[in-house]
Amino acid sequence: MDKLIITGGARLDGEIRISGAKNAALPILAATLLCDGPVAVSNLPHLHDITTMIELFGRMGIEPVIDEKLAIEIDPRTIKTLIAPYELVKTMRASILVLGPMVARFGEAEVALPGGCAIGSRPVDLHIHGLQAMGVVINVVGGYIKAKAPKGRLRSANFFFDTVSVTGTENIMMAAALASGRSILQNTAREPEVVDLANFLIAMGAHIQGAGTDTITIDGVKCLHSASYKVMPDRIETGTYLVATAVTGGHIKIKNTDPTILEAVLEKLREAGAEIVTSKDKIELSMHGKRPKSVNVRTAPYPAFPTDMQAQFISLNAIAQGTGTVIETIFENRFMHVHELHRMGARIQVEGNTAIVTGINKLKGAPVMATDLRASASLVISALCADGDTLIDRIYHIDRGYECIEEKLQMLGAKIRRIPG
Ligand code: EPU
Repeated sequence: MDKLIITGGARLDGEIRISGAKNAALPILAATLLCDGPVAVSNLPHLHDITTMIELFGRMGIEPVIDEKLAIEIDPRTIKTLIAPYELVKTMRASILVLGPMVARFGEAEVALPGGCAIGSRPVDLHIHGLQAMGVVINVVGGYIKAKAPKGRLRSANFFFDTVSVTGTENIMMAAALASGRSILQNTAREPEVVDLANFLIAMGAHIQGAGTDTITIDGVKCLHSASYKVMPDRIETGTYLVATAVTGGHIKIKNTDPTILEAVLEKLREAGAEIVTSKDKIELSMHGKRPKSVNVRTAPYPAFPTDMQAQFISLNAIAQGTGTVIETIFENRFMHVHELHRMGARIQVEGNTAIVTGINKLKGAPVMATDLRASASLVISALCADGDTLIDRIYHIDRGYECIEEKLQMLGAKIRRIPG
């Protein structure tokens, strides 16, 4: 298993480009299954999760054509098997995103039921109930969700999500794109990745209104046509580099991003003392060598503060002036990084879903272990500003969501190296 070794203390300074958004690319790849012809998707990030989705397509008999820039062409008409096997689903829960498209387009699907997850129980009941509301018969047998569409097409549905779910909204919106009649989805996720998926579906001829609000209306069409689409920039990758720069007192120019979808994060960084200037697709952050001030953070669905940035802000508070409280309301077990940060000397007390972080002047490098994607990002951030060396084990987690992380950090002046294992 590869490890990262980081020698802390370098003040980050420089310019990087942001990659395509993992959490938009995954549903967009799944949505290609709905199309009646070849589809081209560009700006895919070079990440392990994307490779897993492409491997899943391969298992289904679809052979995507990929160029060196990871633009991909997929012709879903070559599909042979309507099964998403457990050995892939267990490595990537987002595989559940093929369920709605497969059953809507091909009339049936078998997708392994994702099991537990390091950050919470993460059930998929809403995905199942939403499809059932469209007439899909679902049985869970031998660990697989076996779904069968009614004769003809899926029926339209009025469906209320009792919890706001990002991939739940995406799965049902994709299925409804090919259902007969008007579906109205309520209490939907407003995340920008949902909007990007809706825009892709619209590019293929879907009739969708309201993406980005809590009510999405979909007038189902009989078929979707070929299209080309460019995936949006990754807002969580952007936020992670901003925090990494802030903890080192540094300066960064970020290109190929979108400041309008990061407002809650930018607001907290300003509160922490960062000077931030934004333009259309750029963000510049300067700390002028200052130590950040603690901030209080409460995660909630978009447009509030994202759970995917919580771990990074715990790292910021760990070296900030003062005490900051971080409340996690989305996932019930998303504080695994705290135990690793304790190994670096951080003063963090967890009470239920609240972490109370008392900033100290300097963390100390230590061997630590990554437990999930964003937890690993927080360990990298802490290592960058710690005294001495930090060895981060199990960094395959970070390769799921951060393209070329060591190259990008090196461009900013960080002392970081991968040790192949
Ligand atoms: N939930 C249910 N039932 C469901 C679905 C969700 O109770 O059927 C609950 C979950 O247990 C959780 C809450 O609803 O408590 C929200 O979960 P959601 O379904 O929104 O999460 P997700 O769609 O599985 C996506 C991202 C996550 C991100 C969350 C929240 C993708 C592929 N994943 O997950 O990204 O944390 O939304 O914003 O889009 C990451 O990138 O590190 C990551 C974990």
